[in-house]
Amino acid sequence: MRIVCVGGGAGGLYFAGLMKKADPRHHIRVIERNRPDDTFGFGVVFSDATMAGIAEADSEAYRGIARHLVHWDDIEVNYRGERITSTGHGFSGMSRHTLLRVLQEQACAAGVDVLFEREVESLDALDVLDRADLVVAADGANSTVRQLLRDRVKTTIDLRPNRFVWLGTTKPFPAFTFHFKRNDHGLWRVHAYQYGPGRSTFIVECREETWRAAGMDRATEQDTATFLERLFADELDGHRLITNRSIWRQFPTIRAEPWWSDNVVLVGDAAHTAHFSVGSGTRMAMEDAVALRDALVDHDTIASALAAYETRRRPQVESLQRAAQASLQWFEDTERYTTLEPIQFTFSLLTRSLRITHEDLRARDPQFLARVDEFVAREAERQVMKLATGGEVVPPPMFTPFRLRDLVLPNRVIVSPMCQYLADDGTIGDWHLVHLGSRAMGGAGLVMAEMTDVSRDARISPWCAGLYKPEHAAAWKRVVDFVHRETPAAIGVQLGHAGRKGATQRLWEGDNEPLAEGGWPLISASPIPYFPGRSTVPREMTRADMDCVVADFARAAELARDAGFDLLEIHMAHGYLLASFISPLTNTRTDEYGGSLENRMRLPLEVFDACRTVWPDEKPMSVRISAVDWAPGGMEPDAAVEVARLLKAHDCDIVDVSAGQTVADQQPVYGRLFQTPFADRIRHEVGMKTMAVGNISSYMDVNTIIAAGRADLCVLARAHLFDPYWTRHAAWMLGYPLPWPDPYKSMERYTPRFEFRFTGDK
Ligand SMILES: Cc1cc2nc3c(=O)[nH]c(=O)nc-3n(C[C@H](O)[C@H](O)[C@H](O)COP(=O)(O)OP(=O)(O)OC[C@H]3O[C@@H](n4cnc5c(N)ncnc54)[C@H](O)[C@@H]3O)c2cc1C
Ligand SMILES: Cc1cc2nc3c(=O)[nH]c(=O)nc-3n(C[C@H](O)[C@H](O)[C@H](O)COP(=O)(O)O)c2cc1C
Repeated sequence: MRIVCVGGGAGGLYFAGLMKKADPRHHIRVIERNRPDDTFGFGVVFSDATMAGIAEADSEAYRGIARHLVHWDDIEVNYRGERITSTGHGFSGMSRHTLLRVLQEQACAAGVDVLFEREVESLDALDVLDRADLVVAADGANSTVRQLLRDRVKTTIDLRPNRFVWLGTTKPFPAFTFHFKRNDHGLWRVHAYQYGPGRSTFIVECREETWRAAGMDRATEQDTATFLERLFADELDGHRLITNRSIWRQFPTIRAEPWWSDNVVLVGDAAHTAHFSVGSGTRMAMEDAVALRDALVDHDTIASALAAYETRRRPQVESLQRAAQASLQWFEDTERYTTLEPIQFTFSLLTRSLRITHEDLRARDPQFLARVDEFVAREAERQVMKLATGGEVVPPPMFTPFRLRDLVLPNRVIVSPMCQYLADDGTIGDWHLVHLGSRAMGGAGLVMAEMTDVSRDARISPWCAGLYKPEHAAAWKRVVDFVHRETPAAIGVQLGHAGRKGATQRLWEGDNEPLAEGGWPLISASPIPYFPGRSTVPREMTRADMDCVVADFARAAELARDAGFDLLEIHMAHGYLLASFISPLTNTRTDEYGGSLENRMRLPLEVFDACRTVWPDEKPMSVRISAVDWAPGGMEPDAAVEVARLLKAHDCDIVDVSAGQTVADQQPVYGRLFQTPFADRIRHEVGMKTMAVGNISSYMDVNTIIAAGRADLCVLARAHLFDPYWTRHAAWMLGYPLPWPDPYKSMERYTPRFEFRFTGDK
């Protein structure tokens, strides 16, 4: 085969060498526009796992690279005058220049023809390309080849707002080091690591406003170095900064699809980039090279090989890009986290990409984790106003208590409200007793009863639970009394009005589908049906309708109080009546209930206030919101922050941050913990307690969310359908002695010994 690689970076050279070694009969040429020694940049970093992958793919390349690696296990975070170190991370650094030299030498030794100082400007300009069976575009983030293929390869370039500059220094940093330093211009972040004897990479990053305030938008390379040397004089210990095309840039996250067309294939940065804070660009380029070699070896035709390469690599790359996206956002939003204490700030930083969990850190650095758990436990003691008595175990974060007004929850796991569609004119029965009762026995700190409707016409379906007749309160009281009598769990109820999503079939018969018969008139903020042409068109609410709805909510709150619920949640999410006022997609009113967010929140807040008036002072109230609508023109996280601010001003105790379900044509971006970032943002920007919900299913994630301060409570729905004893299982896995109900006490002998540190031992 005749193969031409455009670009002699890590991806192109490594692929060329691998392919030549796979079959020396291939004719392989690398065309590189720079000279052999023209490497820009300083060091690259590899995780131990990456090096293991290189060792498996090509032991010769591994040996060539490994000789030059500087290995370290520690990550050091310098913040607010404290230095916090966490160990067990296993990384290596090496000079980018050396890496390319090793790969060049190995490729040449294997018989690859490397042409320097030749720039490829068109696919057919070089006759060598004309005769190539395969063209590998390894020409980096600004790939010329990708641009030449623009009719066939769709590329998106997301230019991130932060500014960064890649510098070097002679200071040998012993750990992967982060500095967070504030001056008059703003907060500066440094990512520094050693890549050779007396040589370290020193990347400085900041927000655009900080960069401009410091005059860096007008700075030359030398001005930048002089300014940063002065700013980081203490951190550099008298060492100098080294420049090498060190210009301020914005990181481009590049995504391309597909990665191949005819006989041309993209690898490395030409196909995708991942923010430098996950240190994976070179690794991804080299992993692409291995996958491409494997596919070419395993397949008979170029087309099937290139398709197989993309099929294998794309999910891995996209997963890493998701992690990189979460990571870069953490660095874009670092200002948000500067209220955190150093130990929690460090934990938040280490778990930023959502890939490393509380449990991973236990394996890597149990002492660091013990400090984190101790911190979370002490904060919880302070928050619930319980003094440490000593001699107590330090619980994992999810088993710390939490106070809302006079309600103290025994732990941070919440059973999410889930409609059961099994009530009779609003009256619930045995199913609800067993459903909620068993989940309370299962160990959750709070079980939330389903969306419970404030009037007959407020129901989603004819089978929805209600709190609009006295007998409803009596039926609920039976459940509430059971939970209180037999378990340590608290129980809350979610009050709602279906609005334009009313009079529909049960979830399992037709999600949001209108009833074939027996429906009722609907009301909403505006006369917009849920499914155009299929759903009932709701009536635009008049002020008289609003008075009725406010009164219905207040009456339902009184019935909830009579039933003995511990917490009252108002449902302002998922496109139901109150949500229909909040979202601009469903509220097109021109009166004082439409238009600005303040206007759109007017009725929801009136409802909240009316309920707060009748709901006992000592009991908390929450509100569930949809932080985004996942649809153009709809709610966005910025607006959700403002919604939370208004709720806080009305004495709402905690926001339950959900998303979507507002419009039928929503385009949600699902994934693990996909809604948690919204809870995190509101918690820090509004200074308000939050519940995170949505695809939280492991105790590792719950511990991580709580310990990092991303939310105060974690709400799990489907995980609790699968396992009513979810919290008990988590306790068992963690070795935490969650008390069993008396009749089940014999289980205690099977609970593993609790292995956490006793505070009384100190
Ligand atoms: C600030 C910063 C820090 C980084 N830190 C790390 C890190 O710590 N670890 C890590 O793994 N990665 C890091 N990266 C990313 C890493 O540098 C890239 O992801 C990696 O180099 C990608 O390899 P590549 O072979 O795909 O592209 P490149 O290394 O960019 O190589 C492309 C090559 O193609 C050549 N070329 C381009 N166009 C043409 C043309 N038309 N004709 C001929 N030749 C051409 C270029 O001269 C270049 O040599 C960092 C990136 C930045 C910006
Ligand atoms: C069967 C079922 C019924 C639901 N009913 C409600 C409800 O009554 N009120 C509500 O706010 N959300 C309801 N939801 C949404 C969940 O509370 C939760 O927000 C969603 O399932 C995401 O969480 P998960 O990923 O843990 O399942 C329901 C979800 C399911 C699966």
